Amino acid sequence: MTSVFYRGVTAKYPKATRAKGMYIFDETGKEYLDMSGGAAVSCVGHQHPQVIEALCDQVKSMSFAHTAFFTNDPQEQLAALLAAKFGEEDAKVYFTSGGSEANETAFKLAWQYWRAKGQPAKQKIISRIHSYHGNTYGALSISGNMPRRRVMGDVLLDWPRIEPCYAYRHQRPNETAEAYGLRAANHLETMIQQEGAENIAAFIAEPIVGASLGVVSAAPGYFKRIRQICDAHDILLISDEIMCGTGRTGTFFAHEQDDFLPDIVTLAKGIAGGYQPLAATLSRSHIHAAFVDSGRGFDHGHTYVGHATACAAGLAVLRVIDQENLLENVQKQGQYLQDALETAFKNHPHIGDIRGRGLFRGIEIVADKNTKTPFPDGDNITKRLKQATMKHGLICYPGGGSYQDNLGSHILLAPPFILQPEHIEQAVEKLQLIFKEVF
Ligand SMILES: Cc1ncc(COP(=O)(O)O)c(C=O)c1O
Repeated sequence: MTSVFYRGVTAKYPKATRAKGMYIFDETGKEYLDMSGGAAVSCVGHQHPQVIEALCDQVKSMSFAHTAFFTNDPQEQLAALLAAKFGEEDAKVYFTSGGSEANETAFKLAWQYWRAKGQPAKQKIISRIHSYHGNTYGALSISGNMPRRRVMGDVLLDWPRIEPCYAYRHQRPNETAEAYGLRAANHLETMIQQEGAENIAAFIAEPIVGASLGVVSAAPGYFKRIRQICDAHDILLISDEIMCGTGRTGTFFAHEQDDFLPDIVTLAKGIAGGYQPLAATLSRSHIHAAFVDSGRGFDHGHTYVGHATACAAGLAVLRVIDQENLLENVQKQGQYLQDALETAFKNHPHIGDIRGRGLFRGIEIVADKNTKTPFPDGDNITKRLKQATMKHGLICYPGGGSYQDNLGSHILLAPPFILQPEHIEQAVEKLQLIFKEVF
């Protein structure tokens, strides 16, 4: 008997009671190897003593003071650290509690920015098919993830969306990666011409698509061209790095590897490593200046904006990443993970693609490898994979819809940055058993 309204209303969940490093334990003592950090959250591992100490210190001195009345040291220090990592010390950071709120903040910044600049008609936000930007009404309206949109029927707003940059499925056989990147980016130009640049506030994209496609990086030059198009049409570029940011791909920001500078970046998940709910919306100085210059301010806010304890967790997590040189380990183990997955599964008849950057890896599952045809019952594959992984004590993130609507299946891996070769070997062994069972 429970009074909890579970995520899966009739599902049964093991009760997690303890965690340490790469592992979570349930009440029976069963061990689960956390190869997805939940959903790309636990980046410094579970129960890191330095983060726990920083949290306890903050709670003892001051847990919370509403930021409509006060500022606090943790949010000041964390904002300064993020601005320094971004490389623009005048950048400003707005802290919220989760990824959806961070993106809602980004959308409101974009709308109010254009109003402050005297262009109130710039309202539409273009996103991509197969994108996920959150589960609040605005963020889901601006997402292209069909399985998550479909359940909402017609109530969502229908914003313009373009094709993703997804070489595995859309690059033509006679096309170079660069030519494909350019062709994919030009879909944005076509959409802007169709909708009218005077009506468009921003374009939002994940530099590496996480849950909707199963870790898909853009083709070379794609985001450079996207930046050019946004500049040419006076459109803000929002980089959703909620899943792929905070070091997950081997650099602190994911956009660094695609060599473009967004106007707004959103971070969540790894930013406080699961120790507290925290998210950040970083905006470049020209955005903040527009609000100051117009005298209109920025009209927004939630109760827990800049929460002192959440920001203290974020600060401690970023310090651990730096002090323990974890991004070097992300790059090193990321390559080892890719190699180990390829050695084990490259010739598997149902593994179509193994891809990613750093400790952000995706495995695309197909019914037929030559034609890349997905299984006709994608939902069922996702469900069976989830059941089998939990049975074998492996936490990873199976998903669907990467082909179209509910077709296409993948597994996402996003382990903590403390990962070592023995964990990779253990994960591959478990995946071998799991695939044998599911296929
Ligand atoms: C890319 C991306 N954006 C936004 C979100 C929403 O974040 P949250 O679930 O913390 O609201 C997610 C969550 O998975 C995400 O992966």
